[in-house]
Amino acid sequence: MSEEPKVGGKEYHIACGPGDVSQYVLLPGDPERTSRISSKWDSVRFKASHREYTTHTGTYKGVELTSTSTGIGGPSLGIALEELFRIGANTFIRVGTTGTIQDDVSIGDLIITEAAVRLDGASKQYVMSEYPAAASYEITLALIEAAEELGVPYHVGVTASTDSFYTGQGRPGFGGYAQSWMRNLIPDLRAAGVLNFEMEAATLFTVARLYGGRAGAITAVIAQRESKQFDPDAGIDAAIDVANEAIRKLRAWDDLKKTLGKARFYPSLERDKSQKARGL
Ligand code: URA
Repeated sequence: MSEEPKVGGKEYHIACGPGDVSQYVLLPGDPERTSRISSKWDSVRFKASHREYTTHTGTYKGVELTSTSTGIGGPSLGIALEELFRIGANTFIRVGTTGTIQDDVSIGDLIITEAAVRLDGASKQYVMSEYPAAASYEITLALIEAAEELGVPYHVGVTASTDSFYTGQGRPGFGGYAQSWMRNLIPDLRAAGVLNFEMEAATLFTVARLYGGRAGAITAVIAQRESKQFDPDAGIDAAIDVANEAIRKLRAWDDLKKTLGKARFYPSLERDKSQKARGL
């Protein structure tokens, strides 16, 4: 018996093994959203489903990619991330939903998270709370470029990631249950310029960085906390389209880095490539 939690050569929770997933992985929370994401691909070559983790691997505009649902919150996302890293994934984009606390962000808009306030618990089981939960700049750039090209409304900034959808995001608990700190939570985060609440980015960004991977996040605004609006499907298709396109861009940039012998992508690499092609 091995201590490694594997079943039949596959990672225990996600039921995937080596060769089943791409290096590039989209991470929705909802298992149903994996099918919604892969319905926009050219083809799907692999499917697995176990507990909250539904995985599809296929190609989008010729680029191989995977979508694995994470369930809700840092603990279940952390399990998916651990197991995906073990079988070769290293580039992750969360595609989810969010509630905004700023009045200039509308229902259906998209939020690209540059960094997350670590109000989760899972990331603290990996590293001290002073360690930053920062997105990969390459992924943020790819998401911005894709959102611009698709012409969808988007915002870029800081997100707060919590372990509780209700009290942790300043919503009363059952029967009106509340704590005094909840009164100041939204005003304080708003004053700090935080755009939104969601439940996975902090764990994703922290752990992906500790393990030498890249992570980013795009979320659709389904709740406007200021105007008290809620629409559970708003913006989700746009977020999926941006995320699929961002993976295509990242793959092209990674290929360019390889061709030009660079460790990092920066915008003038595209110019360097065309100069090189022209022998300049
Ligand atoms: N997801 C969250 O975590 N909060 C919201 O308000 C909406 C989606």
